Amino acid sequence: MDSFLIRGGNRLKGRVEISGSKNSSLPIMAACLMAGGKTTLKGVPRLSDIDSMIKLLGALGCDVYRHDANTPALDDGPSLNGPLDISITDETKSVAAYDIVKTMRASICVLGPLLAKRGQAVVSMPGGCLIGDRPVDLHIRGLQKLGTEFRVEKGNIVGTVPGGRLKGRRLYLGGAQGPTVLGTINIMCAAALAEGETVIVGAACEPEVWDCATLLNKMGAKIKGFGTPELHVEGVDNLTGVEHRIIPDRIECGTFMIAAAITNGELELKNCNLDHLVAVVDRLDEVGVRISRENGTIFAASARRLNPVEMTTQPYPGFPTDLQAQLMALLALGDGISVITERIFPDRFLHVGELNRMGGRIRKDGATAIVQGVKELQGASVMASDLRASAALVLAGLVAKGTTQIDRVYHIDRGYEKIEQKLRALGADIVRVKEK
Ligand code: EPU
Repeated sequence: MDSFLIRGGNRLKGRVEISGSKNSSLPIMAACLMAGGKTTLKGVPRLSDIDSMIKLLGALGCDVYRHDANTPALDDGPSLNGPLDISITDETKSVAAYDIVKTMRASICVLGPLLAKRGQAVVSMPGGCLIGDRPVDLHIRGLQKLGTEFRVEKGNIVGTVPGGRLKGRRLYLGGAQGPTVLGTINIMCAAALAEGETVIVGAACEPEVWDCATLLNKMGAKIKGFGTPELHVEGVDNLTGVEHRIIPDRIECGTFMIAAAITNGELELKNCNLDHLVAVVDRLDEVGVRISRENGTIFAASARRLNPVEMTTQPYPGFPTDLQAQLMALLALGDGISVITERIFPDRFLHVGELNRMGGRIRKDGATAIVQGVKELQGASVMASDLRASAALVLAGLVAKGTTQIDRVYHIDRGYEKIEQKLRALGADIVRVKEK
């Protein structure tokens, strides 16, 4: 298990290219299980979660090939990586086994596409994870409404479609915590090949749903209303492979905005879509961070004084849970008391204890954290837990006095492409210590 050693205190300055979205790439790769011919995906980041999805698609009879970076014929825009070609070679496989699913919950995204295209699926039941219970009941309920029969067998979800084809209908997909992002994508994928029309009421509106719907429509699907809570899907008989560029990673972009703010730096962010970050920009503006856009480049610069704020995580277009920990690291140095409430994953506060080890003064009260700003953080040995909590520790380490050692950085490698290289290029003193 690798570690990061960060010597804090350097102002970050310069230009950084934001990668394609991990959370868009994963369900989109799974959606390729439904298309005949070859699909070419551009901007898919190089991350361990992507490697897991490649392995899973391989086990499900797909051939996945990564081109070299800057492959001329395919290079029509920003990309740190070569495009990914996905084509199906064997449609008899339908088992997503535990050894892959346990490493990546997004494996559940293959359920809808497999049922729609192959009429059956066996997906190991994802367990809980560090950020909470994370049930998949809404995925199951939605697919049941389209005609799937489910049973649980030896820890696996076993789904079969009597007659081989799902049937469209009107259904409600909201849960106690609001809409489900991957659940919406799973049902939308399944509905794309179902017989007749499906209306998903209470659909998630996240840009990742929009991106997957755009891909499916290019493939021949008939989906309307994506980006709104009511999705209309007219089922078609088949889908065909296409070329598609993945949207920029809004969470990585927000993380770098906060990196500029916390280090009192100035960053130029390339390949971002500020329209996906309106709530984030709103909160950062309140804190005093200056964010502006000029000719497709985003500029983020810190204010000397960090104002305390209140923030509640919400489904899109609200403030994303995936940036809650990073904002907390910033507010730990705010000039007063901030209040952060987590409405999506009420237990997602593993970073609180670690930030406090660095001198933070944060108290958790149920799903709320009360953050009393301090003048400085100090370097310490801390443990990366979930992906975004780990990003918060990196941000804290960049500004802390002395050296911060972050263990178990494989969590960060799941979701931030080349993070230490990107930060080093901006002036950070960060090195990866490889496990011997
Ligand atoms: N929920 C249910 N039942 C379900 C599904 C979800 O009760 O069947 C609940 C969840 O427990 C949660 C809420 O609904 O309280 C929303 O969860 P959602 O289903 O939207 O989460 P997800 O689709 O599994 C994706 C991202 C997460 C991100 C959430 C929320 C991917 C691969 N994952 O998960 O990303 O936090 O949406 O925006 O897209 C991350 O990147 O660090 C990460 C955890």
